[in-house]
Amino acid sequence: MTAVGIDAIEIRTGKLRLDLPNTFAPKKGEDPEKYTKGLGLEASSFPDVYEDIVTMGANAAKRLMDRKGIAPEDVGRIDVATESAFDHAKPVSTYIAGCLEQVYDGDFRHANKGERKFACVAGTQAIDDAYNWIRAGRNRGRSALVIATDTALYERGDPGEATQGAGAVAMLVDEDPSIVELSTDQGYGSMDETDFLKPNQQFPSVDGKRSVQVYLSRMREALEDYEAVAGPVGVEDVSYAPFHTPFPGMVRKAGLFAYRHITRDSPVEDEIAAAIGRRQPREDEYDSREAYEEAIREYMDELKGAEQYREWYAETIEPTLELSRVVGNWYTGSVHLARASALRHAAARGLDSEFVGRRLLVGSYGSGAQAEIHAETVRDGWREEIEALDIDDQLESRYDLAFEEYEQVHDVHDFDKSVEVEELTAPEAEFVFTGWGRMNERT
Ligand code: HMG
Repeated sequence: MTAVGIDAIEIRTGKLRLDLPNTFAPKKGEDPEKYTKGLGLEASSFPDVYEDIVTMGANAAKRLMDRKGIAPEDVGRIDVATESAFDHAKPVSTYIAGCLEQVYDGDFRHANKGERKFACVAGTQAIDDAYNWIRAGRNRGRSALVIATDTALYERGDPGEATQGAGAVAMLVDEDPSIVELSTDQGYGSMDETDFLKPNQQFPSVDGKRSVQVYLSRMREALEDYEAVAGPVGVEDVSYAPFHTPFPGMVRKAGLFAYRHITRDSPVEDEIAAAIGRRQPREDEYDSREAYEEAIREYMDELKGAEQYREWYAETIEPTLELSRVVGNWYTGSVHLARASALRHAAARGLDSEFVGRRLLVGSYGSGAQAEIHAETVRDGWREEIEALDIDDQLESRYDLAFEEYEQVHDVHDFDKSVEVEELTAPEAEFVFTGWGRMNERT
């Protein structure tokens, strides 16, 4: 069976930067360490006044097409995953295709376009759709362009405000992929939940504390479901575990949960028991569910300090958080940034052909709520592709917002306000938002 997976990735960050410990924390009267140590965030990316989900997505897609030498006729499908859409009928992929058609000979008339929605997990669902489309033999030799693009903004004053971010990740899904091969095995945890909603509103209504619990429960179910089809996951089987990262502190919790799960009934559990003096609690040892859950909490507190866990976390999870720590939550793009962070880390460690064939355990999550766990296998073009990213230059050249500028830019991106503010950076050769009705021209 021909391998199908991710052949190329491009990342586009919003061009503005909000420094959380130095600019945001003092204005909020908070200890900067709440952001850096608690949430695990240094900064957020924001869109300048001429950027939005369409321009960021189109700019990422254009760089990807140019770098890979792809013409519109080579792309048979364009799917956009977003939870920041401004149009309830016309999918964002049509706006992005319209931008791209301004700069290429040929058009995307033949391409099937759509928009995927299930909060942050939609980016992964769009990749799954592309995979299925290729596997079903409907692609006629063409590849699929999947773009995860969001302006993840919260109402000012909402606890989620510190976790904002904006950017796009464009991915090419194809046969014989260069970066990772996807497999047919997937696990799901899915349930009707109301922890994070946007019913006809731009900014989410969030029950933040509950959303953290829902994330962990659905991820656990997805991991169990994945193991039911793929077999138990062993600590040694996985090189990196990129998870959806609303903020790195969330993944710190998810990592601990995942580690407890995958070490249970394994020789590693015995090693840990020797180190901390106890095995994992089993439900049948307790009189009530409450007593069992309390025992699990106590075990997890001790597990946090175990050397085996700390080493695993430092090698398998921590490297996936590098980008998200400096850009915030990109919603649909977030788990794909985590994968890119992991691969950048592997390249920085000097890995090359010995990394081919290694596995990533990818945990995607969307509020509302659904988690998906699947594994990906690294392919032999991974390093060249990851080294072609220009994300370091983009991050370096972001404009540092003063707090008052941040508030003005936030207002510009608030659909309910009509505020006009001068741009803070100069557009280069890129797609820019030029106003409703005259959208998205290329400078
Ligand atoms: P909060 O209530 O302001 O923060 O917001 P907190 O008081 O819970 O503090 C956060 C952490 O910092 C805690 O760590 C504190 O102890 C620590 P924890 O105990 O949880 O490990 N802390 C400090 N550490 C060091 N020094 C200090 C200090 N002070 C505090 N001085 C909340 C937190 C998550 C509620 C908020 O950010 C929020 O509402 N965020 C938005 C919702 C969200 O991101 N939820 C995550 C799961 S849902 C999800 O991922 C889906 C999503 O991406 C949307 C989608 O799918 O579409 C959001």
